[in-house]
Amino acid sequence: MSDQSPPNAAKTLPDAQTVTSVYHWTDSLFSFRVTRPQSLRFRSGEFVMIGLLNDAGKPLLRAYSIASPNWDDALEFYSIKVPDGPLTSRLQHIVPGDQIILRPKPVGTLVLDALLPGKRLWFLATGTGIAPFASLMRDPDTYERYDEIIMMHTCRTVPELEYGRQLVESLSDDPLIGEMVGGKLRYYPTTTRQDSPIMGRITDNLTSGKVFADLGLPPMDAGCDRAMVCGSLAFNTDVKAVLEGFGLTEGANSDPREYVVEKAFVGDGV
Ligand code: FAD
Ligand code: A2P
Repeated sequence: MSDQSPPNAAKTLPDAQTVTSVYHWTDSLFSFRVTRPQSLRFRSGEFVMIGLLNDAGKPLLRAYSIASPNWDDALEFYSIKVPDGPLTSRLQHIVPGDQIILRPKPVGTLVLDALLPGKRLWFLATGTGIAPFASLMRDPDTYERYDEIIMMHTCRTVPELEYGRQLVESLSDDPLIGEMVGGKLRYYPTTTRQDSPIMGRITDNLTSGKVFADLGLPPMDAGCDRAMVCGSLAFNTDVKAVLEGFGLTEGANSDPREYVVEKAFVGDGV
């Protein structure tokens, strides 16, 4: 497959949506917005299949978390650029006016309905795993259901945190939800391979108690703490063990409990 193929080849498909903006955060991360089909309803935290036509004219689709909230007129996505990745080696070249394919069937477990009511809600993400929380952090429902929301995001380097940082910083001034967010959203960004104000893996900062001490919070308690997890398979597996250690159990849409998990990507392709 050539990287030079026009990314707007999806023009003739019924599920085509138009790209309205693109922003490159680093050499390997970008975000973009596309038009939203009028009929598309989704719950914040869900994902859809998006893509482009391949050289043979067949849809090449991948799962993507919707990063925008459900009240937004447009849809936002936050994407990796995988070197030689079948989709992202081409998707990274989209510009406003291009079209992508979007299958309007949102699904996923990172939804508020899959959790029991509680007091504090923890969002635990690495890398592009912040995308579903970019949606949930902008959903008024999140602030109606919980007294406190803690966004823990860990990346290897500081520039990789920037999308999340700018989003969080913009929320308190947001005309729609700024007032609701108020002092309820706590942000705890960390890096593991470059110096930054707070360092360390999410798992380590939870088990050592560092995050609780830094934020002045008690350790997690199954009675009042809820969590949503999104990262690599290894990250998800390790965080699950930590959460279970605090007594939280895994829930699902059909069986709400204290935490839910979604993969941010699949190791050997989707
Ligand atoms: P692929 O062949 O799909 O992947 C090649 C390899 O690249 C993978 O084996 C993996 O090792 C690595 N890789 C793929 N995606 C990532 C990633 N996000 N971060 C780090 N390494 C990765 N990707 C996003 O960028 N944003 C999202 O919001 C997003 N949401 C997802 C939601 C779900 C439920 C799942 C299962 C995956 C999601 N992905 C997301 C991953 C996405 O589906 C694709 O894998 C990604 O776009 C790369 O596509 P590709 O065809 O270029 O490479
Ligand atoms: P580290 O640098 O110590 O590996 P990756 O790019 O490999 O997906 O990692 C993204 C971030 O997630 C990195 O900061 C990485 O830390 C962290 N990470 C990777 N695997 C785990 C894990 N199993 N548990 C906790 N954090 C992890």
